[in-house]
Amino acid sequence: MFPAARPPSWISAPASPFRLCCCLVLPGQAGSAARYGTPSLSGSPRACRDVEVQQDSVPDELIENMDKKETWDRFYTENNNNPKFKNFEWFFGFSSVKEYILPLVQTTCNTNIPLQVLDIGCGTSALGPCIYAHSQCAVNVTCADISPVAVRLMREHVENTLPQPCNPSSTLIFREMDCTQLEGHFGARSLGLIVDKGTTDALLRSKTGQAKAGQIVKQCLKVLRSTGSLLQFSDEDPDARLLWLEKEVGASEVAAEVGIWEVGELRGVNYFCYHVTPSLGQHRH
Ligand SMILES: C[S@@+](CC[C@H](N)C(=O)[O-])C[C@H]1O[C@@H](n2cnc3c(N)ncnc32)[C@H](O)[C@@H]1O
Repeated sequence: MFPAARPPSWISAPASPFRLCCCLVLPGQAGSAARYGTPSLSGSPRACRDVEVQQDSVPDELIENMDKKETWDRFYTENNNNPKFKNFEWFFGFSSVKEYILPLVQTTCNTNIPLQVLDIGCGTSALGPCIYAHSQCAVNVTCADISPVAVRLMREHVENTLPQPCNPSSTLIFREMDCTQLEGHFGARSLGLIVDKGTTDALLRSKTGQAKAGQIVKQCLKVLRSTGSLLQFSDEDPDARLLWLEKEVGASEVAAEVGIWEVGELRGVNYFCYHVTPSLGQHRH
């Protein structure tokens, strides 16, 4: 069964500030493709202003079927039965990760052409709209999700609230999309940044989603520019995720490097940002 109302019963209110930090993590514990270090950001810890969530009793039915459109349609329908829409964050929100995203956008963007940004499995998160609203340089943000319910809710919300971008040339759209098929929607090497907050985690934890998660990584590498980045925000331990990412990258047509930044701890759970960047000019096949 799904939680009936939002916030769901398995999510509790914040009790303590979630602190964001950028630091070196586990040097030497991963394979050769891994690259460790801080992003081009300030390294000082800072308080997070996000809503904190606790996922200690997510229903088994949801976990097992997190790769299915129907599961998420039902989830977003049941969690949005209030007349007033609220963004739902699977875990932390934009303010916890903006220090990773905005400098990357700034260094990747070209002053004349908007940077193409994609949020894969956006759900009803505010992450994509916040990138659109806060980026100084022009961005075309696409928020994509397999669930038409989530996409409709976000379109309606944005139509009602009309968020304003920092840069007047920026755009924001929501699209129903199976992100295992990105090539059908985006040109090769066209995207500057892809963000994934909890989507790969969800696929990897579901009964039949592992191959889809791998397919998404390979598709991301095909549609990323050579200077682009895929950021996976995740609570999966580096021992497991780095090995998995290196395996998927190794089987991809595009060679890439994998790095990791530690985001911080929330209620005893450590969160990470896995950073995948194509190796310049490295098309293998
Ligand atoms: C764990 S939720 C994360 C949602 C959001 N990123 C957040 O942080 O709250 C996973 C999301 O991935 C979406 N999803 C699952 N499989 C997908 C696929 N193949 N293509 C696109 N979205 C998918 C689900 O509909 C769901 O919204």
